[in-house]
Amino acid sequence: MTEAASDAVPFAGFNSDTIDNMIVNPTAYADETVLDAYRTLREQDAVHWTEPTGFRPFWSITSHADITSVSKANDVFINRLRTYLAPIEAEQWTLAQSGDTHLFRTLVDIDDPQHMKLRRLTNTWFMPQNLKKLEGEIAIIAKAHVDHMASLGGACDFVNEVALWYPLRVIMRILGLPATDEAMMLQMTQEIFGPQDPDVVARSKLITTGGAATPATGNTQVDIFALVQQFFQYFGGVIADRRANPREDLSTVIAQGEVDGAPIGLMEAISYYAITVTAGHDTTSSTASGGLLQLIRNPAEMAKLKADPSLIPQAVEEMIRWVTPVKHFMRTATQDTVVGGKTIRAGDGLAMFYWSGNRDTQVWGDADSFRVDRKTNPQTAFGNGVHQCLGLHLARMEIRALFAELLPRLDSIELAGEPKNSIANFVSGLKTMPIRYAMR
Ligand code: HEM
Repeated sequence: MTEAASDAVPFAGFNSDTIDNMIVNPTAYADETVLDAYRTLREQDAVHWTEPTGFRPFWSITSHADITSVSKANDVFINRLRTYLAPIEAEQWTLAQSGDTHLFRTLVDIDDPQHMKLRRLTNTWFMPQNLKKLEGEIAIIAKAHVDHMASLGGACDFVNEVALWYPLRVIMRILGLPATDEAMMLQMTQEIFGPQDPDVVARSKLITTGGAATPATGNTQVDIFALVQQFFQYFGGVIADRRANPREDLSTVIAQGEVDGAPIGLMEAISYYAITVTAGHDTTSSTASGGLLQLIRNPAEMAKLKADPSLIPQAVEEMIRWVTPVKHFMRTATQDTVVGGKTIRAGDGLAMFYWSGNRDTQVWGDADSFRVDRKTNPQTAFGNGVHQCLGLHLARMEIRALFAELLPRLDSIELAGEPKNSIANFVSGLKTMPIRYAMR
């Protein structure tokens, strides 16, 4: 890209450098100031050539319409070369360690035709018809977590004592993995998504030591390579077991998966497990916590929802729009093309900022209001096109089940401290939310 790089865009209230660095700065996601940067871009340069310090430049795609059209054009914009925003140093490290642009080869890291062949293995499993069978069990898991909240004596940190554990239990159940491995799984998923936040890393280290001690080394750095090894070791065992002893679980579907008449490779299988546990965990827990925070902050919306539980599906859609736990995904153009009036060159990277798309006033006149009864809500948090979230029906089902159980039992609820977001620019949300409540 050369043409637009010279278009110094005069932003009202920002200069281009500031905006470019904010867009990638994990702290701007924690304090939510990135929403101001997004708004400025949507209004003044919705497809913006972005050159942050320490990152390869890319196009920021910030309007709902452009995010949708880029997501859907999977032949023009591919995933393989650049999946998410990483500093140049981290990209070079990955290349040196693995000889590839990725440490894993998950569904989001690959393109068709291989992508479709692998996705097909579990597509039916994630469809509503199959998930229906799990509805009763998910309701029981939701109830157990709400019971736990009730047992905590009217005060807790909702993120750390309830929301983080609930989707994890569901994922462990559908993969057929033992509850005794939950703490370790939580640590692995937290460290994959939270390495930019020392609190998240320290917490995950505490969880694996039983929460009793501070990390022995005081080291809050994640050794990503060791983490990948940990995934390989753990899921390598699961694959061997399910190939020898098939069961009625998703782990068996993956372990026994075949593409073009041959069993899928070890890297493909491990990557499948890795994306299922990671994508299925923090996203859903962040939405549940962030959704509850909005209900606390908007008592009239809470009252509306409690008075009419049939609004829960709409409220959940609004929570997903509001939180947008996956902040972006990237694509690379395979040919010269035009997006939002800007010429994109073959090889240019594009970042689709879903959170920005979900606050676009062209779609929702009152996009910055949280409303539980929106009739139409074309939120874009799950993406579009061939990579659209495989777990979207499961995620909706889980969050609905949690609020269906929680709301009728809640007599009152308020914040008991300052809620704080994680410092992360890829998958992010609340990392702590102290609350006080009365419930049955
Ligand atoms: C509120 C919760 C969730 C959100 C907001 C979310 C969001 C996303 C997004 C934005 C993508 C990429 C879409 C694209 O590139 O076009 C994605 C992909 C994916 N998600 Fe989710 N997700 C959620 C929950 C889940 C759950 C519960 C699971 C499974 C247990 C899951 C599994 C996946 C998988 C496997 C992919 C890769 C699909 C592909 O590339 O073909 N997600 N998700």
